Amino acid sequence: MDGRQDAARRGRACSIGSRTNPMDLAALNTIAERLVASGKGILAADESSGTIKKRFDAIGVENTEENRRDYRELLFRCGEAMNGCISGVILFEETLYQIGADGTPLVKLIEAAGAIPGIKVDKGAKPMAGFPGETLTEGLDGLGERLAKDYAQGARFAKWRAVIDIADGLPTWGAVKANAHALARYAAICQEAQIVPIVEPEILMDGAHDIARCDEVTRWVLQTVFAELAEQRVALEGIVLKPNMVICGKGCSSRASVEEVAQRTISALKATVPSAVPGIAYLSGGQSDEEATAHLDAMNRIGGFPWKMTFSYGRALQAAPQKAWSGRTENVTAAQKAFAHRAKMNSLASLGRWDGALERAA
Ligand code: 13P
Repeated sequence: MDGRQDAARRGRACSIGSRTNPMDLAALNTIAERLVASGKGILAADESSGTIKKRFDAIGVENTEENRRDYRELLFRCGEAMNGCISGVILFEETLYQIGADGTPLVKLIEAAGAIPGIKVDKGAKPMAGFPGETLTEGLDGLGERLAKDYAQGARFAKWRAVIDIADGLPTWGAVKANAHALARYAAICQEAQIVPIVEPEILMDGAHDIARCDEVTRWVLQTVFAELAEQRVALEGIVLKPNMVICGKGCSSRASVEEVAQRTISALKATVPSAVPGIAYLSGGQSDEEATAHLDAMNRIGGFPWKMTFSYGRALQAAPQKAWSGRTENVTAAQKAFAHRAKMNSLASLGRWDGALERAA
């Protein structure tokens, strides 16, 4: 029996529902479990060229391919962060295929640190026809072919971000349903390509809504997403969920305590996310670095849920190193120190062992 037949057989043997296509669920599950391994979390370094421009503008760095490479290379070469705290790195397509200054492919740096390379495969949230003020994430066309190339390049997991905005009369059922459906089709296509899909339905913090409204919409969206995943025959053992936390809008006049965010997030997820999912890796979504860490820590201290809970932060891991670097070679060490600190704080938070005093000491 050749390897492919063998994989197909094993896939059928351990798959669920009526899915019969060749898929090695045990291997997908191993990757998903590694992404949420104890004390580790994901570095979301997959800013599109437009988003990284915004980040670079803030630190006065020109958005060139070389600067993007130098910046990301300094993160991946930071052993202190990468070896102990980072399980996987989500990359923008350019980075997956990029070569470092000394000729080493950037994916090799990630692999050498024991982390798994991943790829953002969505093509962004685009205005949704017929639904003013709402977006639908696009990128399903040709996804299977792209994934085959990304797999050959070393990617073992992927990310697709659906964006849900809370505003007057929003979100609508039409937009929630369409985004959940696209997430589920993406996840099915990934699994068939032996790539673990990170399923990311993000409810934005933009707006003045209170925490109760975020709670309600988060439950609604997660319920819809898991119904779609089931209909599209996605094996939950082979995904990682990347949700928002249940939190007040940025413009809300009242602030919820760390404890309330933690309690509400756990209870919303317990009510909507099946226990077959190996892990939850939160997005930071515009929370401050320390807030994102404190909330994750509080949830892990409370415990009592069936999944691992860790981080998949972009801004909350990178804001400090970006500022420290500011595009200067002489600042690389300072930037790596800042990255290692945030990675360590979030690693501790994923175990419920963070302490605010560690921030002040640093
Ligand atoms: P933030 O942590 O900055 O929200 O980014 C995470 C991410 O990958 C969004 O898709």
